[in-house]
Amino acid sequence: MRKKFVAGNWKMFKNISEAKAFGEEFVLLEKPDEEKVEVAICAPFIQLSQLKQSFKGTSIKIGAQNVHFAKEGAYTGEISIDMLKELKVDYCIVGHSERREYFNETDESVNAKLRALLKDGEITPILCVGEALNIREAGEEKAFVEKQLMEDFKNIPKEDAKRVVIAYEPIWAIGTGKTATPEEADEMCRSIRDKLKELYDKSLGDEIIIQYGGSVKGSNASEILNMKDIDGALVGGASLKPDEFNSIINFK
Ligand code: PGA
Repeated sequence: MRKKFVAGNWKMFKNISEAKAFGEEFVLLEKPDEEKVEVAICAPFIQLSQLKQSFKGTSIKIGAQNVHFAKEGAYTGEISIDMLKELKVDYCIVGHSERREYFNETDESVNAKLRALLKDGEITPILCVGEALNIREAGEEKAFVEKQLMEDFKNIPKEDAKRVVIAYEPIWAIGTGKTATPEEADEMCRSIRDKLKELYDKSLGDEIIIQYGGSVKGSNASEILNMKDIDGALVGGASLKPDEFNSIINFK
């Protein structure tokens, strides 16, 4: 049985005192059984230690939104895996569509980041894939995402690949209020599983955790999270408010 995994993605929102206020309120709200639902918040780098402190004594995990693939070096403005490990970061988003679109991330750099994280072995990558509206309208979404998977998983052995969490995020549904229908999202998650079965083997495809992301909120979480091939959600806007995010993780 695959465990559900819901992660918030705060993007470039909140300062440290706002993160602290979120943490204080969020930990007091009723949580789902931790054996059934894993919960994490992926925040900007400077808020991670505050969140770690706020979530102390709970099972809520923290994640970064990006990392550099080199161990260290002259890369102004970048953050290394070791720096994140020092903060006891559990997850790291890799290849979010906003980074691919605005910061020139390519499948090649996404692959390098994935490999670096997996080789190190401590931080679990959340790999984002998903198509833009024009690709969906042309009916090429499956082929597009399959190509992303082939390139992003290049030279990654099965033992490492199975530790990756995948977030299927159709770009046209991110921050637009327009969600994919649960059926559309489920079909894409199934197609991702099928591709991974082809790239690796059946058990990997059956066991890998696949989230859906794109305008998930309290009011649509249940119908999305109960679909057969969807194991969780990557939540942007609706993860900024403790009660809204809490209603998602407590989906029925
Ligand atoms: P959204 O963002 O929930 O605000 O649509 C999702 C994401 O970008 O991960």
